[in-house]
Amino acid sequence: MTTCFINVLLLHPLGTVLLPQMRLFFVNFLYSQNRRLATSIYSMSRSILILFFIYGTRVNTEIVTMKNISETAYLVAMYRALETERKDALIKDLFARRLAGGRGEMLVEVIGDKQRTTTAIAIRTYVIDELIRQVVELEGIDTVLNLAAGLDTRPYRLCLPTSLRWIEVDLPEVLSYKQERLKDEQPLCCLEHVNLDLSNLASRQALFSQINVAAKQVLVITEGLLSYLPEDQVALLAADLHEPPNFRWWLSDVTSSIALQEYDKYYPRKIFDQYFANGNQTLLFAPPNALEFFQQYGWNVAKLRSLWEESLRRKRGVQFARFWEYLMRWVAREHWEKIRNLGTIVLLERE
Ligand SMILES: C[S@@+](CC[C@H](N)C(=O)[O-])C[C@H]1O[C@@H](n2cnc3c(N)ncnc32)[C@H](O)[C@@H]1O
Repeated sequence: MTTCFINVLLLHPLGTVLLPQMRLFFVNFLYSQNRRLATSIYSMSRSILILFFIYGTRVNTEIVTMKNISETAYLVAMYRALETERKDALIKDLFARRLAGGRGEMLVEVIGDKQRTTTAIAIRTYVIDELIRQVVELEGIDTVLNLAAGLDTRPYRLCLPTSLRWIEVDLPEVLSYKQERLKDEQPLCCLEHVNLDLSNLASRQALFSQINVAAKQVLVITEGLLSYLPEDQVALLAADLHEPPNFRWWLSDVTSSIALQEYDKYYPRKIFDQYFANGNQTLLFAPPNALEFFQQYGWNVAKLRSLWEESLRRKRGVQFARFWEYLMRWVAREHWEKIRNLGTIVLLERE
């Protein structure tokens, strides 16, 4: 029973925050009652945990590995499906489960920490949905260019002008799979697909200038893309997007450098580790100051939404979030801004 309690604590997501203190308190308490019993319970529980961990890691990495970057699309779709199925869902993506399929289900299970990541993706999606609606309505956008669109279904689920041209760009295997799965559905605006490897600079520049000629006001979206690129590639993309004069707005999620360090320390990266071991890209782009970074390439930050604050506003923050917030403001005031901006959504406007 006691071992079970310790293991549940160690495995619980909240454990990363509360665990060291609680474990210390619990072990100290047991120790003061009965030293022998405490020592044997603690070492037994640790051995079981280590065995679980070794076994789990071996089984998971043997069976499930991400073959390439496009698999992350299944993962994100599955988180959207899980959110959609909640009673208090922030977003309703009725196609998400169909698109995520068994692959998405399996990847989510192996990565673990399902609830926390589902909430993070749900809030990201919710905020981006809201900003798209606002910009399209208020700024007279006639073309949306969604780069690395993956299994996103906004053209099918957002209330958008029927005349809006919505262009999705991704690798051919992702877009053909998505078209097949959604072949009986009707988009609510004028949807087009472009199969393109965005790392091919000449082809993407040609695409951008082609879109620029036909459009008056373009909104670009790069949701879940930039983190996978090294800083120099994001810089090149920022410059390429600034070249065509009608590309006026750019919406993206940006992760801060501290968030990425924390993620590296705590996140169960079994799948990602395997993926990186293949010599592929990793999570890379996390500028210390997003405002300054994008400004260098002619993009000003028009809106910056903190995912932490949004999660509190939508009552989906981590437990005792308000308490943590007050505590942080009090004990580490100078770091608070950085913490608040661990994960953000930025709406950039051409200078
Ligand atoms: C994390 S998913 C995000 C998908 C989508 N934006 C969303 O939020 O659901 C990353 C996407 O980037 C796409 N991607 C990565 N590198 C790419 C490249 N060089 N060219 C085109 N697409 C790419 C992948 O295929 C995948 O669909």
